[in-house]
Amino acid sequence: MADPSQRKLIIAIDGPAGAGKSTIASRLARKLGYVNLESGAMYRALALSAIEWDSSFDDEAALLKMAQESSITLERAVGGNRVRLNGKDVSERIRQRDVTEAASRISVHPKVREWMVARQREMGIGGGVVMEGRDIGTKVFPDADLKIFLDADPVIREQRRLDQQQVKGAPAQAMAAELRERDRRDRTRAASPLVAAEDAIVIDSTNLTEDEVLNRIEQLVAQRIAPGR
Ligand code: DC
Repeated sequence: MADPSQRKLIIAIDGPAGAGKSTIASRLARKLGYVNLESGAMYRALALSAIEWDSSFDDEAALLKMAQESSITLERAVGGNRVRLNGKDVSERIRQRDVTEAASRISVHPKVREWMVARQREMGIGGGVVMEGRDIGTKVFPDADLKIFLDADPVIREQRRLDQQQVKGAPAQAMAAELRERDRRDRTRAASPLVAAEDAIVIDSTNLTEDEVLNRIEQLVAQRIAPGR
C-alpha cells in the first residue's frame, strides 16, 4: 500500500484580507515542501493589465478577452511567489494601492472568475499545494483535503494591514475605509462571494500568534495524512 505520509494534499486557505492567509500559507507550504499558490495575485495581475490598457473594470467581456490573451503565471521563489504578466515580473507592482482596488473590482465578474478557477485547478490538481484566496474551498477545490477559513476581527485586520504598510494618520483612515469597502464587495458579490465552505475549519486569528495558527493547521494536516494516528 502507498505510504500515506507521501500523500500530496490539496490545502485550501480562504478568508478576508488581513486575516494572515499569505504568511500562513507561505510558511505552511515551506514546512511541508509544497507549492504555495496565491490566487489573489492572479486577479491582481489581470487588474494591472486592465490599468495598463486603460480598460474599464466593469467591462466583463473585455476583461475576459484580456485574460485569455495574457500570460499570468505564478512562480515559486525564495521569499514567496513571483508573479509574471506576459513574461514581466510584476510581483511588487501588483501590491500597490491602485491595483489592490482594481483587483477587487474585476473579481466580481463571473466569466473572469470562471477563467481564473480553471487556471487555478490546472495548477493545483496534482496536489502538494497550499492555495489561498477567497473561493478555493468553495469553487476551485471543493474536494480539497483540508479547508481552512482564516478570519479575524475587522479592526485587527485593518491594523495589521496598516502596520504592514507602515501607514499612519489620515492616509491610514483612508486605507482602512478602502479595506472595509473591498471586504464588503468580496462578501456581497453575486459570483462566489467570500464565505466559509460548509466543511471548512474556521480559525479566528484575532487572539492567536502566527505560530499558534500554524501549529493548529499543522496538526490538522497531520490528521489528514495519517488519520487515527
Ligand atoms: O488576496 P488578495 O488581497 O491579493 O486578493 C486581491 C483581490 O482578488 C481581492 O479583492 C479579492 C479577489 N480574489 C478573489 O475574488 N478570489 C480569490 N480566490 C482571490 C482573490
